[in-house]
Amino acid sequence: MKQERARWWTCPQTWLIGAVLALLLVGAYGLQRYMIQGAGPVAGPVPVIDKMVSQAPSTKPRPQPVDCAAMPCLALTFDDGPNPLTTPQILSALEAAHVRATFFVVGSRVPGNEAILRRMYADGFEIGNHSWSHPDLTKLPAVQVHEQVIRTQLVVMAAGVPPPTLFRPPYGAVNQTVRSQVPLTLALWDEDPEDWKTADVNQIVTKTLAAARPGRVVDMHDIYAPTVQAMPQLLEKLKSQYRLVTMSELLNLTPGQRGEFFGR
Ligand code: NI
Repeated sequence: MKQERARWWTCPQTWLIGAVLALLLVGAYGLQRYMIQGAGPVAGPVPVIDKMVSQAPSTKPRPQPVDCAAMPCLALTFDDGPNPLTTPQILSALEAAHVRATFFVVGSRVPGNEAILRRMYADGFEIGNHSWSHPDLTKLPAVQVHEQVIRTQLVVMAAGVPPPTLFRPPYGAVNQTVRSQVPLTLALWDEDPEDWKTADVNQIVTKTLAAARPGRVVDMHDIYAPTVQAMPQLLEKLKSQYRLVTMSELLNLTPGQRGEFFGR
Protein backbone atom coordinates (compact mmCIF):
# COMPACT_ATOMS: atom_id res chain seq x y z
CA MET A 1 0.00 0.00 0.00
CA LYS A 2 1.33 3.38 -0.96
CA GLN A 3 2.26 5.52 2.08
CA GLU A 4 0.50 8.86 2.18
CA ARG A 5 2.95 11.74 1.85
CA ALA A 6 3.12 13.94 4.97
CA ARG A 7 1.82 17.44 4.38
CA TRP A 8 4.41 20.16 5.06
CA TRP A 9 2.46 21.85 7.84
CA THR A 10 2.25 18.68 9.87
CA CYS A 11 6.02 18.17 9.74
CA PRO A 12 7.79 18.80 13.14
CA GLN A 13 10.77 20.45 11.38
CA THR A 14 8.47 23.12 9.98
CA TRP A 15 7.20 23.99 13.45
CA LEU A 16 10.73 24.11 14.85
CA ILE A 17 11.98 26.44 12.11
CA GLY A 18 8.87 28.58 12.58
CA ALA A 19 9.48 28.87 16.32
CA VAL A 20 13.13 29.87 15.83
CA LEU A 21 12.15 32.50 13.25
CA ALA A 22 9.52 33.95 15.63
CA LEU A 23 12.06 34.17 18.45
CA LEU A 24 14.58 35.90 16.16
CA LEU A 25 11.94 38.43 15.07
CA VAL A 26 10.97 39.27 18.65
CA GLY A 27 14.66 39.64 19.57
CA ALA A 28 15.40 41.86 16.59
CA TYR A 29 12.38 44.06 17.40
CA GLY A 30 13.54 44.51 20.99
CA LEU A 31 17.10 45.34 19.91
CA GLN A 32 15.89 47.82 17.31
CA ARG A 33 13.74 49.58 19.92
CA TYR A 34 16.65 49.76 22.31
CA MET A 35 19.10 51.02 19.66
CA ILE A 36 16.83 53.56 17.99
CA GLN A 37 13.98 54.66 20.20
CA GLY A 38 15.55 54.37 23.61
CA ALA A 39 13.56 54.93 26.77
CA GLY A 40 11.44 57.75 25.42
CA PRO A 41 7.71 57.96 25.87
CA VAL A 42 7.10 54.69 24.04
CA ALA A 43 4.00 52.72 24.95
CA GLY A 44 4.35 49.07 25.84
CA PRO A 45 7.05 47.17 27.70
CA VAL A 46 10.35 48.92 28.37
CA PRO A 47 13.41 47.17 26.93
CA VAL A 48 15.00 45.00 29.57
CA ILE A 49 18.30 46.85 29.42
CA ASP A 50 16.70 50.22 30.23
CA LYS A 51 14.97 48.69 33.21
CA MET A 52 18.19 47.09 34.31
CA VAL A 53 20.16 50.33 34.12
CA SER A 54 17.51 52.58 35.64
CA GLN A 55 15.94 50.75 38.57
CA ALA A 56 18.56 49.56 41.01
CA PRO A 57 19.69 51.99 43.72
CA SER A 58 23.31 53.16 43.63
CA THR A 59 23.59 53.84 47.34
CA LYS A 60 23.77 51.14 49.92
CA PRO A 61 20.60 50.81 51.95
CA ARG A 62 20.83 52.81 55.14
CA PRO A 63 19.64 51.20 58.36
CA GLN A 64 18.58 54.61 59.74
CA PRO A 65 17.08 56.87 57.06
CA VAL A 66 17.91 60.54 57.48
CA ASP A 67 14.88 62.74 58.10
CA CYS A 68 15.84 65.96 56.35
CA ALA A 69 12.44 67.44 57.16
CA ALA A 70 13.40 67.34 60.83
CA MET A 71 17.01 68.54 60.65
CA PRO A 72 19.03 70.94 58.50
CA CYS A 73 20.51 68.88 55.69
CA LEU A 74 22.79 69.90 52.85
CA ALA A 75 23.83 67.86 49.79
CA LEU A 76 27.33 68.36 48.47
CA THR A 77 27.67 67.05 44.92
CA PHE A 78 30.89 66.55 42.98
CA ASP A 79 30.87 66.50 39.17
CA ASP A 80 33.16 65.60 36.28
CA GLY A 81 35.30 62.86 37.84
CA PRO A 82 36.56 60.36 38.55
CA ASN A 83 40.07 61.76 38.55
CA PRO A 84 42.80 59.38 39.78
CA LEU A 85 44.63 62.14 41.71
CA THR A 86 41.95 64.40 43.16
CA THR A 87 38.88 62.17 43.61
CA PRO A 88 40.51 59.85 46.18
CA GLN A 89 41.58 62.92 48.17
CA ILE A 90 38.03 64.29 48.18
CA LEU A 91 36.81 60.87 49.32
CA SER A 92 39.37 60.76 52.12
CA ALA A 93 38.32 64.22 53.34
CA LEU A 94 34.63 63.22 53.33
CA GLU A 95 35.38 59.93 55.07
CA ALA A 96 37.51 61.62 57.72
CA ALA A 97 34.59 63.95 58.43
CA HIS A 98 32.10 61.02 58.41
CA VAL A 99 29.79 62.75 55.95
CA ARG A 100 28.11 61.75 52.71
CA ALA A 101 27.99 63.27 49.25
CA THR A 102 27.03 62.45 45.67
CA PHE A 103 29.47 62.00 42.78
CA PHE A 104 28.23 62.58 39.23
CA VAL A 105 30.70 60.69 37.11
CA VAL A 106 31.59 61.17 33.44
CA GLY A 107 31.44 57.70 31.86
CA SER A 108 34.48 58.09 29.60
CA ARG A 109 36.58 58.81 32.70
CA VAL A 110 35.61 55.58 34.47
CA PRO A 111 37.83 53.06 32.59
CA GLY A 112 41.04 52.70 34.61
CA ASN A 113 39.37 54.27 37.67
CA GLU A 114 36.91 51.50 38.51
CA ALA A 115 38.40 51.00 41.98
CA ILE A 116 37.49 54.61 42.85
CA LEU A 117 33.82 53.88 42.05
CA ARG A 118 33.91 50.71 44.14
CA ARG A 119 35.33 52.72 47.02
CA MET A 120 32.55 55.32 46.66
CA TYR A 121 29.92 52.63 46.76
CA ALA A 122 31.49 50.66 49.58
CA ASP A 123 31.70 53.80 51.73
CA GLY A 124 28.06 54.78 51.16
CA PHE A 125 28.45 57.66 48.72
CA GLU A 126 25.90 58.08 45.97
CA ILE A 127 27.07 57.68 42.37
CA GLY A 128 25.19 59.63 39.71
CA ASN A 129 25.50 59.68 35.92
CA HIS A 130 26.94 62.84 34.30
CA SER A 131 26.85 61.61 30.65
CA TRP A 132 29.53 59.80 28.70
CA SER A 133 31.58 62.72 27.33
CA HIS A 134 30.04 65.87 28.87
CA PRO A 135 28.38 67.41 25.79
CA ASP A 136 25.52 69.92 25.84
CA LEU A 137 22.76 67.35 25.38
CA THR A 138 20.28 69.92 24.06
CA LYS A 139 22.39 70.10 20.89
CA LEU A 140 22.28 66.34 20.21
CA PRO A 141 19.67 64.16 18.48
CA ALA A 142 17.60 61.88 20.68
CA VAL A 143 19.51 58.70 19.87
CA GLN A 144 22.81 60.26 20.95
CA VAL A 145 21.30 61.66 24.16
CA HIS A 146 20.15 58.18 25.06
CA GLU A 147 23.53 56.69 24.19
CA GLN A 148 25.30 59.25 26.44
CA VAL A 149 23.25 58.01 29.38
CA ILE A 150 23.25 54.27 28.71
CA ARG A 151 26.99 53.99 28.00
CA THR A 152 27.73 55.53 31.38
CA GLN A 153 25.22 53.26 33.12
CA LEU A 154 26.96 50.26 31.57
CA VAL A 155 30.51 51.37 32.43
CA VAL A 156 29.48 52.02 36.05
CA MET A 157 27.91 48.56 36.25
CA ALA A 158 31.03 47.06 34.66
CA ALA A 159 33.02 48.62 37.53
CA GLY A 160 31.02 46.41 39.87
CA VAL A 161 28.58 48.88 41.42
CA PRO A 162 24.83 49.25 40.88
CA PRO A 163 23.68 51.58 38.09
CA PRO A 164 22.98 55.21 39.05
CA THR A 165 19.41 56.38 39.51
CA LEU A 166 20.28 60.09 39.17
CA PHE A 167 21.41 61.91 36.04
CA ARG A 168 22.99 65.36 36.08
CA PRO A 169 22.87 66.94 32.62
CA PRO A 170 26.16 68.67 31.70
CA TYR A 171 25.83 72.48 32.13
CA GLY A 172 22.35 71.87 33.54
CA ALA A 173 21.11 71.90 29.95
CA VAL A 174 17.71 70.23 29.64
CA ASN A 175 15.09 70.22 26.89
CA GLN A 176 12.19 68.00 25.87
CA THR A 177 14.50 65.51 24.14
CA VAL A 178 16.61 65.17 27.29
CA ARG A 179 13.49 64.73 29.43
CA SER A 180 12.16 61.98 27.17
CA GLN A 181 15.45 60.16 26.53
CA VAL A 182 16.91 60.04 30.03
CA PRO A 183 15.31 57.19 31.99
CA LEU A 184 16.66 58.52 35.31
CA THR A 185 15.84 61.28 37.81
CA LEU A 186 17.19 64.63 36.57
CA ALA A 187 19.35 65.91 39.42
CA LEU A 188 20.23 69.59 39.09
CA TRP A 189 21.53 71.98 41.76
CA ASP A 190 20.73 75.34 43.24
CA GLU A 191 24.10 76.60 44.45
CA ASP A 192 27.29 76.94 42.40
CA PRO A 193 30.22 78.25 44.48
CA GLU A 194 32.30 78.28 41.26
CA ASP A 195 35.15 76.11 42.46
CA TRP A 196 35.85 75.51 38.74
CA LYS A 197 36.56 79.20 38.21
CA THR A 198 39.23 79.98 40.78
CA ALA A 199 42.44 78.61 42.29
CA ASP A 200 41.83 80.62 45.48
CA VAL A 201 41.10 78.10 48.23
CA ASN A 202 39.78 80.71 50.67
CA GLN A 203 37.37 81.98 48.06
CA ILE A 204 36.00 78.47 47.53
CA VAL A 205 35.47 78.06 51.28
CA THR A 206 33.86 81.49 51.67
CA LYS A 207 31.57 81.19 48.65
CA THR A 208 30.43 77.67 49.58
CA LEU A 209 29.66 78.66 53.17
CA ALA A 210 27.76 81.71 51.92
CA ALA A 211 25.72 79.55 49.54
CA ALA A 212 24.82 76.93 52.15
CA ARG A 213 21.17 76.84 53.33
CA PRO A 214 19.15 73.95 54.72
CA GLY A 215 17.86 71.77 51.86
CA ARG A 216 20.25 73.09 49.23
CA VAL A 217 22.17 71.12 46.62
CA VAL A 218 25.70 72.49 46.16
CA ASP A 219 27.54 71.87 42.88
CA MET A 220 31.29 71.28 43.23
CA HIS A 221 33.92 69.35 41.27
CA ASP A 222 36.26 66.54 42.33
CA ILE A 223 38.82 67.26 39.60
CA TYR A 224 40.52 70.43 40.90
CA ALA A 225 43.32 70.67 43.46
CA PRO A 226 41.98 73.88 45.10
CA THR A 227 38.67 72.09 45.79
CA VAL A 228 40.63 69.30 47.49
CA GLN A 229 42.53 71.85 49.59
CA ALA A 230 39.31 73.61 50.60
CA MET A 231 37.67 70.43 51.88
CA PRO A 232 38.97 70.02 55.46
CA GLN A 233 38.15 73.59 56.49
CA LEU A 234 34.89 73.60 54.57
CA LEU A 235 33.67 70.29 55.97
CA GLU A 236 34.50 71.24 59.54
CA LYS A 237 32.37 74.39 59.25
CA LEU A 238 29.50 72.80 57.32
CA LYS A 239 29.35 69.83 59.69
CA SER A 240 28.73 72.09 62.66
CA GLN A 241 25.52 73.38 61.04
CA TYR A 242 24.27 70.69 58.68
CA ARG A 243 23.83 67.01 58.24
CA LEU A 244 25.70 66.36 54.98
CA VAL A 245 23.76 63.80 52.94
CA THR A 246 23.43 62.37 49.44
CA MET A 247 21.08 64.01 46.98
CA SER A 248 18.64 61.09 47.13
CA GLU A 249 18.61 61.34 50.93
CA LEU A 250 18.06 65.11 50.87
CA LEU A 251 15.11 64.90 48.50
CA ASN A 252 13.84 61.50 49.62
CA LEU A 253 14.05 60.29 46.03
CA THR A 254 13.03 56.78 45.08
CA PRO A 255 14.77 54.85 42.28
CA GLY A 256 13.03 55.39 38.97
CA GLN A 257 11.37 58.63 40.09
CA ARG A 258 11.04 60.90 37.04
CA GLY A 259 11.28 64.69 37.08
CA GLU A 260 13.75 67.54 37.56
CA PHE A 261 15.02 68.17 41.06
CA PHE A 262 17.01 71.03 42.56
CA GLY A 263 17.30 71.54 46.30
CA ARG A 264 14.23 72.22 48.40
NI1 NI B 1 30.00 68.84 34.58
